[in-house]
Amino acid sequence: MQQRSIAPSILAADFARLGAEVADVAEVVGTIHVDVMDGHYVPNITLGHPVVASLRRATDRVLDCHLMITDPATYAPQLVALGADHITFHPEVEDDPIALIHDLHDRGATVGVAIKPAHPVSMVTELLGHVDLLLVMTVEPGFGGQSFLPETVPKVAEAAIWRATNDARFRIQVDGGIGPTTVAQAAAAGAEVLVAGSSVFGATDRAAAVRTLLDLADAAGAVA
Ligand code: DX5
Ligand code: ZN
Repeated sequence: MQQRSIAPSILAADFARLGAEVADVAEVVGTIHVDVMDGHYVPNITLGHPVVASLRRATDRVLDCHLMITDPATYAPQLVALGADHITFHPEVEDDPIALIHDLHDRGATVGVAIKPAHPVSMVTELLGHVDLLLVMTVEPGFGGQSFLPETVPKVAEAAIWRATNDARFRIQVDGGIGPTTVAQAAAAGAEVLVAGSSVFGATDRAAAVRTLLDLADAAGAVA
């Protein structure tokens, strides 16, 4: 049985005091979600190498780097070298996603692939036997603080069924608009890793916000 977890997205944190922001949640989470955007794959620019390196020095939690960039094969290995533990990329921009997955595994990272709201699960099924994680985006990638798109939830259930049918092992992550009013539906559909930015770092007590999300997710039902 897999454990559910909340992965706070630092996109909603105060970047001027990032170490303290991460320390605020470290006690209650195993993973920190790091959104890397390049201004090409998405119309926004966030952070890159120096921030990942600083985070690596600041925390021993798993650094889950979500690459919303057009050239993951160039930059993902560099981020792993700087201390990223996990890389998720959007595979439609990569010529040979299976080669990149294996390259990152060889470098010691775990690897995920992401699908945008308009992408069907079938777009990535040939990759799912190779990855550790499938990210089902529950908003359009690019910005924090957007509203959860409920029409994406059936893809979570579909991925969970595909995994069981095909004896695959990837975890299912959701990302975007996850908060107290939406976490249960994603969890009930089978999401195990729930990324939450605004609903965690927008709270006064971040650890309490994480615990609340976890309780609501657990109350939604057992994971596969
Ligand atoms: C959106 C990012 C998300 C975002 C989530 O492109 O991938 O990780 O930070 O933020 P919230 O939880 O505020 O929607
Ligand atoms: Zn993300």
